[in-house]
Amino acid sequence: WNTPSGENWLLIHLNLIFSVITYWLTISLIPKFKRRFIQKNLFGFDLHKVKGPKIPEAFGFIVGLTYLVTLFIFSAIAFRQSILRDHNCPQKEFVESVAGLLCISCMLMFGFADDVLDIPWRYKLLLPSIASLPLLMVYYVNFNSTTVILPKFLRSTFGLSVNLGIFYYVYMGMLAVFCSNAINILAGINGLEAGQSLIIALSVCLFNIIEMFGEFWQPHQFSLFFMIPFVSVTLALLKFNWCPAEVFVGDTYCYFAGMTLAVVGILGHFSKTLLLFFIPQIFNFLYSVPQLFHFMPCPRHRMPALNEEKLLVASKVAFAKSELTLLGKFCIKILKIVKLLDSRESKDIMECNNLTLLNLVLIYSGPVREASLTKILLLIQVLCSCIAFTIRYPLASVFYGA
Ligand code: UD1
Ligand code: MG
Repeated sequence: WNTPSGENWLLIHLNLIFSVITYWLTISLIPKFKRRFIQKNLFGFDLHKVKGPKIPEAFGFIVGLTYLVTLFIFSAIAFRQSILRDHNCPQKEFVESVAGLLCISCMLMFGFADDVLDIPWRYKLLLPSIASLPLLMVYYVNFNSTTVILPKFLRSTFGLSVNLGIFYYVYMGMLAVFCSNAINILAGINGLEAGQSLIIALSVCLFNIIEMFGEFWQPHQFSLFFMIPFVSVTLALLKFNWCPAEVFVGDTYCYFAGMTLAVVGILGHFSKTLLLFFIPQIFNFLYSVPQLFHFMPCPRHRMPALNEEKLLVASKVAFAKSELTLLGKFCIKILKIVKLLDSRESKDIMECNNLTLLNLVLIYSGPVREASLTKILLLIQVLCSCIAFTIRYPLASVFYGA
């Protein structure tokens, strides 16, 4: 097979240089915009600090902009032959890049609209799927592979592979919805949204670098072009969002991060591997289902609470047992059996923890400081990435190898 040429490696190095410049640009821009955001009422209060000051919110918008500017300029260089209409040069990657950037820009706009207008939850689910349409169209025109290779133990029944057809497109649309919202609901303590996105992005970069030495290196080079600048702007944001946070990332950043990761997963043709890097988010989403779908009451904020010693403890929700639907009672029963619920009952009133991974960690760890909880969750994210690589490489050859 053909291997990456010197020019391909040169472009990756150029992307790296652009990303370093973007990092410095972003850390110099963020402090300049802090006051302006507060003046325009774009701020929130840090709910884990006593009498905290106004913290400017939606800084995902600034990092999203520096990210887009970097990629616009870089794409002009990387795809200069396509732009200059060199007909020998394949237009495929250029078109994919434009579609990817369009989706990310759309999501940045939707996220900012959410921070300003507080969009209701049902629309939050719809917006990423609409924003991912340009990407799915390009995937259809360029690649259109909807065949999935089956593991060995299913091959005797279903054959080597199955063609999922339209369902594969539904799955990819849902991937964009999942990635954006999953980061947004594993949130609420300083440094967590940016920290988890950074670890996922670094895992994707490592995976892409490994695959650059394989047969299908081209989509991985493409993914690196998008991921390296993403790592750099996220690092810059984390510098200001780490405890005690000077800025909040806002829904803008969560959607921007989720969509950027979904774009590389889809266009890099590794959407299933990408999901492996989202193990904590998948767990947190499944654990949250009873509250998200209102089988159990769901307060506006489910983030941990602060106790008298200024340490974080699991936040609780109290409700009348008679309010519960049959499904709600069933969920509580199962969660108690698998020891994922901390609950107290008196007469008709029941009190239990809000169903998030953050609260679950706190139930088992006891009260901790905010920065310690962020570190524990980021450590879990790193461990899950190690598990993901184990599944993707040694175990995949057991299940899929010849
Ligand atoms: C999601 C979660 C919600 C969680 C919130 C925290 C669901 C269904 N929704 O809601 O439970 O409480 O994220 O981001 O799971 N904040 C802090 N410290 C931080 C980050 C945020 O105190 O480190 C507070 C600030 O007051 C900030 C607000 O959270 O203004 C932002 O919340 P927002 O992003 O609007 O909440 P949702 O995404 O709707
Ligand atoms: Mg949010």
